Amino acid sequence: MREDLNTINNITYNLEKIFPDAQDFLPLLGTDYIEFYVGNAKQAAMYYKTALGFQSLAYSGLETGIRDKTSYVVIQDKIRLVFTSPMDNNNTEITDHIIKHGDGVKVIALWVDDAKSAWKETTSRGAESYLEPIEVEDEFGKVVKSGIKIYGDTVHVFVERKNYNGVFLPGFQKWKSKYNPKDCGLKYIDHMVANVGWGEMNKWEKFYNETMGFANLITFDDKDISTQYTALMSKVMTNGNGRVKFPINEPADGLKKSQIEEYLDFYNGPGCQHIAVATNDIVKTVTEMKERGVDFLIIPNSYYDTVGDRVGEIIEDMKVLKEHGILVDRDDEGYLLQIFTKPFTDRPTLFFEIIQRRGAQSFGKGNFKALFECIEAEQARRGTL
Ligand code: FE2
Repeated sequence: MREDLNTINNITYNLEKIFPDAQDFLPLLGTDYIEFYVGNAKQAAMYYKTALGFQSLAYSGLETGIRDKTSYVVIQDKIRLVFTSPMDNNNTEITDHIIKHGDGVKVIALWVDDAKSAWKETTSRGAESYLEPIEVEDEFGKVVKSGIKIYGDTVHVFVERKNYNGVFLPGFQKWKSKYNPKDCGLKYIDHMVANVGWGEMNKWEKFYNETMGFANLITFDDKDISTQYTALMSKVMTNGNGRVKFPINEPADGLKKSQIEEYLDFYNGPGCQHIAVATNDIVKTVTEMKERGVDFLIIPNSYYDTVGDRVGEIIEDMKVLKEHGILVDRDDEGYLLQIFTKPFTDRPTLFFEIIQRRGAQSFGKGNFKALFECIEAEQARRGTL
């Protein structure tokens, strides 16, 4: 897996800096896993297997000697998701998180070569510790973990696994299942977006810059991201090799309540808004996911009246993209295709983005207006606009 991650979607990354403004005191090899705290991990894992094509990977719980929580790990290509539920109310970290936020992302784990150094470098620059470096081992080797707190109740855990060859982490055993639905072509995490409170975007930009060495790749102000009614601002932060990208959104003043405020209301504070996953064939991926019951935002037909003029020639058939509501945008380096799901939880909080990059390394600025108008229509249906 280590070598694999150097080539993602036919882009070969090297660990030298490609973003000159980034600093290299915290070298990151990629996203290690994403852990969700949920009310029922068994059922959540089943949903992600069924609807998104993840495969069973690992399990920890009563049968593996863990008594206070149960975790199911699923995998699809380079993406690992962990679903964790508390076993009783004594595990207040997890129960409190679920009571406050509903199901949501707790841990964005980052794969490092040296978890002790990652903790030292970030905490010495002002990060609040979540987990002091610990070594955990089993018969498959040793893993070093450490962690820091980020926005809301979310955390980064640094995972050093160079001396480990078990199925996931010590304490987990292989999860064998007779139910193995076909994958949906999801490849890797492209970016993960944070929603933070009013006036907090610059604070978190500073955090990612000064504490983690990230560079600001792009800034979108409220003029870039506004409709007739609502607005938001966003700064995209990237680590030095470009493998880890975190856009940070904050609400901006508009005539009506923005989607970011809606999120903050229902999540009870800042948190992860969406996870963008890459595919090499967005039409195939979206067709599969729709057949399995995933709902996507519905893009008005009028979007397709002008998109061809804006993006020029593309490989895909625009008629097929229109049928699915797939958006297209172009930048200096190429173009990208993207589509957004409706929220994955009952609360209108976390959703997924499916993205296929054909050269473009940007985030679909040309689609913001159409996209946010669709979200407003959803908000109006929910009575939260
Ligand atoms: Fe995104």
